Amino acid sequence: MQELRESITGRELLNRIRSDFIGIDTFYENVHGERTRRIYLDSTASTLMMRPAAKITEVFMNHYANTHSKLHHSAHISTSAYEWAHERILSFLGADPNIYTCFFTGAGATTGINRMARVYRDLNPEKDTAIVSIMEHHSNDLPHRKHLGNVIHLPLEGEGDEKSGISLPALERALKEGQGRVNYVSITAVSNVTGIINPIHDIARLAHTYGALILIDGAQSVAHLPTKMFHPDDPDASIDALVFSGHKTYTPGSPGVVIARKDHLSRIEPEEVGGGMVDRVLEDKYQVKTEFPDREEAGTPNIPGAIALATTIEILDRIGMQLLLDEEDKLMKKVLLALESIPNLIVYGGTDFENCPRAASISFNIHGLNHGLVAAILNDYFNIAVRNQCFCAHPYVKEMMEEDLEISFGPIDFGNMSPEFMREAGMVRASLGLYSTEEDVDSLIAALQDIVKNSDDYARHYEINEENDYEHKSYHPGHESIFNVVDAVNEYLR
Ligand SMILES: Cc1ncc(COP(=O)(O)O)c(C=O)c1O
Repeated sequence: MQELRESITGRELLNRIRSDFIGIDTFYENVHGERTRRIYLDSTASTLMMRPAAKITEVFMNHYANTHSKLHHSAHISTSAYEWAHERILSFLGADPNIYTCFFTGAGATTGINRMARVYRDLNPEKDTAIVSIMEHHSNDLPHRKHLGNVIHLPLEGEGDEKSGISLPALERALKEGQGRVNYVSITAVSNVTGIINPIHDIARLAHTYGALILIDGAQSVAHLPTKMFHPDDPDASIDALVFSGHKTYTPGSPGVVIARKDHLSRIEPEEVGGGMVDRVLEDKYQVKTEFPDREEAGTPNIPGAIALATTIEILDRIGMQLLLDEEDKLMKKVLLALESIPNLIVYGGTDFENCPRAASISFNIHGLNHGLVAAILNDYFNIAVRNQCFCAHPYVKEMMEEDLEISFGPIDFGNMSPEFMREAGMVRASLGLYSTEEDVDSLIAALQDIVKNSDDYARHYEINEENDYEHKSYHPGHESIFNVVDAVNEYLR
């Protein structure tokens, strides 16, 4: 294994892996009846599956058994592989296993963030306030509202649609004013709307200076840039806990992951209880295990999913996250520059890449064309898969679109969000993964240039359906006939 590692450079491995994803060559028929390759620019929602992770997990399934035993061969192999998955993820994220533990939760980052909000609430019950930013995904906002009660939303640097990352002076003010009450700061490392990267270690240092803990939502960073828990030159800038999603890290079907400090977790009873996390149980008493991660993983975990994810991470680490970031930067810069030059197209968030670096996501609108219409045209005519609407980040999207929305609908509040308002409020998001190519982004740029030029021609083919979505008047691709589970079962059993 060591020999192989040395004989293949990160770049060679990247070139080999880049096209080794399930779904990279999926074909659909477009409006004109031509079968073309789908261009997948929706990686921020979920990435495609890295094929070697799927294949290696299939091999593992020959040995599958439940964990927590090493008595029979399969239980031994399964338990060892599952233990390796935890260790692999810790080392990938620069998390010393003496300080941190890694545990798997639910299907994505959301469960982990809810969990850590409850952990920190119970750890420091006298501190009832969490600080988040206005750019957070709902999954890094609502859990704190629900479990802590008091949440401060930090503003961003910059103005209007040019807003960039979180404002460090505003963070410092909020920490100073709330000192003694602020339990933790919870910030996304990378925005899922604009891709803007936040300086997580500077944020951690500030939080610690004022006695608060720091939780990082790593859902959009772990697959795209080097992300480390520990800051070697400045331990105060280290992260207390980080959460990410396996399905956004090239491994759909894998669990969410939490990395957290063991000394914090061990001071309270685990938030979830059940089998696997106890040593002894009588009718009136139970004794929680002291070992990590066992005490944090009640019940049977998603063992194959965890092994698949750690396999992906092994491969990402061998390629090198800095190389992946450098490659993605080139594409991001190209898309940003090209989109900025398209008339009537507005890119959200600061576009000066050097001062406002981004990863993975770019959101935009075309004046006069609804975001849903643009996304539908990209899909139907160009076979380009993008996402639209508010991306589970309503406050952030609203903040960047506020001026335009207020011109059409008046002051925005909870009570005046009509179906028309809901249809207008939103953006189109294109997002990259390590399999995204120059050809993919060239296709997006050319498609958008064409849509802007011929907007009326495209628009007249669409109507709004009962679900408030744009639908082509004559193109109805019949997704059921492309794939449905019962037909797939029939085919397999034939
Ligand atoms: C920044 C960010 N945080 C949290 C989440 C929630 O992740 P999951 O849906 O995997 O629970 C997402 C999902 O899009 C996200 O982009």
